[in-house]
This record gives sequence, structure tokens and C-alpha cells, in this order.
Amino acid sequence: MVHKSSSCPLRSKITLAITGVLSLVSVAFAAQAQTVGIDQIQHIHGIAPDPLFPGAVILGTHEGTFRALPNGDAMRVSKDTSDFMSLAAHPNTGKTLFASGHPASGGNSGLLKSTDGGVSWIQIATGDAAKADFHLLSLSPKNPDVIYGAYKGLQVSRDGGTNWTVSAPLPDQLFSLAASSQNADTLFAGTMNGLSVSKDGGNTWQSAHPEAKPVTAIHVTPDGRLYAFIYGAGLMTAMETNSGGDLQWEILSSAFQDRALLKLVIDPRDAQRMFGLAGTQQLMTSGDGGRSWTTFVGYLRQTTDAVSAGKAIYEDNCSGCHGVDGVGERPDDPGAQDEYGFVAPAMNDSAHAWHHPDAQLLETIRDGSSRNERMQPWKDDLSDAEIKNVIAYMKSLWSFRSLACQGAKHMACMN
Ligand code: HEC
Repeated sequence: MVHKSSSCPLRSKITLAITGVLSLVSVAFAAQAQTVGIDQIQHIHGIAPDPLFPGAVILGTHEGTFRALPNGDAMRVSKDTSDFMSLAAHPNTGKTLFASGHPASGGNSGLLKSTDGGVSWIQIATGDAAKADFHLLSLSPKNPDVIYGAYKGLQVSRDGGTNWTVSAPLPDQLFSLAASSQNADTLFAGTMNGLSVSKDGGNTWQSAHPEAKPVTAIHVTPDGRLYAFIYGAGLMTAMETNSGGDLQWEILSSAFQDRALLKLVIDPRDAQRMFGLAGTQQLMTSGDGGRSWTTFVGYLRQTTDAVSAGKAIYEDNCSGCHGVDGVGERPDDPGAQDEYGFVAPAMNDSAHAWHHPDAQLLETIRDGSSRNERMQPWKDDLSDAEIKNVIAYMKSLWSFRSLACQGAKHMACMN
């Protein structure tokens, strides 16, 4: 199945370019429901750290804004069901968010502003920009009254979003945009062919990184740290300097393989806590400044303590069948095969453990397998908290590639 929504051409382009094909999991999405599973939310076009609930994320979606909680629940935040095509948080006042897209009644929504964390939105742009559909928005951390937007050219507002001028043509095959922390006329653009920087508001561009690969996400913190996700190379960081000299890049993680981060934001309360949207539409998070990533759902359990406690439990109870480091049983191990030839599958990501969401893994471990009595119920031997630690350990063995496809998202992956 090819992803065919005409309302999100940029995403289609990225997805087709990056992951080849994105198939949709056709779970009906109930817009009216109070609480839904995060897995059921499709068409996430923007993310922002939640200003009201630390650790939660505001999602800009096809159906309005939602709050995603690390326990796996999501609930509607916006009163209306506009299609949000972009979302940008004010660098200093997280409760102020900007967005653009399409109102439920049709057409384009111009520039929407919310001062209550995404609950209510008003259109603030004047002139032609009142009918714009900005697919990318970036506020200058240096001067947040300066906002860049991508719609029929690179547009800029210098008064917080009311008046706009088209300042330059858009760079070709633009994926991401971020204004500099040093100078409000400096901005970075991630395109199909690399990362560029403009020091004159988008009129001229120079290369800002030697890799000529797709740059799908860029983020700049108010204190001057620049992050760029370069597809095929990984997540990079550099400190911006006010002298404007060459950026000194450091690789934070190259463990993404053929998955991409399409969005990247950082919790203003904790610079180590990052949130990302993978090309599979999985929300991801890092608690160590971008070095390691896990699925957003359940991340509060994915601590180093939980992983080491889970490893000990695994080694005592599970490794006899599922193998050291989760490699799985070999068919010629003594007593391995049942009458149907099934062995204890790998718990690392070489088998299918990652096809199951956390809740289903919990259930299998708690209640055992109805298909094979060798996988006994563990509920009398292990508490739910211990089982969650084992799951945290198992997930620590998975690559970003598999984590980005855990659960229902595995349908969006080609294997
Ligand atoms: C005596 C051998 C044995 C032990 C010990 C064992 N398992 Fe299993 N486990 C199996 C077998 C066999 C299966 C395959 C069941 C099936 O095909 O339905 C399985 C299946 C599973 C699955 C489902 C995997 C999937 O891809 O669907 C999970 C998760 C799992 N085990 C976790 C654990 C954990 C965690 C422990 C330790 C607390 C454990 N197992 C201990 C034999 C064992």
C-alpha cells in the first residue's frame, strides 16, 4: 500500500524518498473519544513538548491537537478538528504554540496561534498569509517575533506572525527549517541534498555539513545547540558560534539504519529529554541527549535501573530457553522443539518480539502462550513491575530500526 494522502504532499515525498513505502494501518480513529491509544493516531505532522504536563508531547495531527502521554494514552487537546500541517513551540513560552494547516471547513488556515498549550487557536496572519498553509514553521530563538514559514516561497514575519513577506524562493526539496539562536536573519534548511545555512534571511545558502544526504529534521535550542538528523548518517550536533565560523559536528547516534527522524524537539525543562517522530509515525524519545532512543510509549519504564533489574530477572528465568542476550533457542538445543517444531524465539530484534506492543508482551509473559506450554504463565513468579523491567531489558536489545516499528507500526515497515 502506498501512502496517498493529497493533504500531506511533503510527508508523502519524505516518506517515499526515505522509507520507500509507508502503508497505513487502517484502525478507525474516533475523533470524539476522550482517550485513545497513541498507536491509533495517524498523520502526525508536528510535535511539541507539552508545556502543561512535563514528559508529554503535543501532537499536531489530521484531526486537531492531541496530548500523548508516556503510558500510551492520547487525548484531544484542541476544541476543533482542523488538519494541523505544522506545529512550532515558542522558544521561551512553551504555552504559546503556532500552527498552520486546513480548517475542518476547508481551505487553508493561515497562521494559528494558541496561548493555552494548544486548546484554543486563533488565526493571526494578515494579507495573503491569512490563507497560507505553512508546512514548516520556525521561530527565531534569538528574537521569537521573527517567524519563518514555508508556503509558496520562504516567508518571514517580524512581528510575531501578523504581517508576512515572501523573502526568498524555497530551497529545492526542502524537508526541514530552523532559525538560528545567534542571529534572527540566519536560518538552517534541511533538503534532499544536505544541510544549508543562510545568513541573509534565505536569499543565499551555503553548505553547513559535508554530507550530501537528506536532512529531515533540524532543531536549535535557545542556548545555541544545533541538531540535525541526516538520513543515512545519523543524528548530529554542533554548537553555533556568534562568530559564524565553521560548525564543529559531533555524531550523537548513527544507529537509525533505514529509519528516519522526521521531527525533533527538546524538552525545555530537560535538555537531555528529546522527542522525535520516526518515518513510521512512531513517537520516539531519548533521555540521554539523543545518544539512545526508545519508543515514547512506556519510556518512563525504560530507565537504566529498570533495564539492569530486567536483565537479572531475564538471566534467572528466561535465558535458559530464549538464550543469552535474547538470541533465541537453537532447534538442536536439547528439548527445544515441541511437536510442531517451534522453538523459544529470540527476544532481541532478530525474530518478531518487536511486532508486539508492550501491553501484548506483558500479557504473553504474565499469562503464557496458549500455543506452546513451554512458555508458561509467569504471573505467580513475577510481579507486573518485574515483567515490565524484563520488557525494558528486551527492548534495550532492539535497534532503533525495530523500535520505530514496534507494535502496530510494524505494518508500516517492509519486514
Ligand atoms: C521452558 C522454555 C521457556 C522459558 C523458560 C521462557 N519461555 Fe518464553 N517462550 C517459550 C516458547 C517455546 C515460546 C513460543 C510460544 C509460542 O510459539 O506461542 C515463548 C514465547 C515467548 C514470548 C512471545 C514471543 C513472540 O514473538 O510472540 C515472549 C514475549 C516470551 N516468551 C518471554 C519470556 C520471558 C520474559 C521469559 C522469562 C520470564 C520466558 N519467556 C521464559 C519458551 C520459554
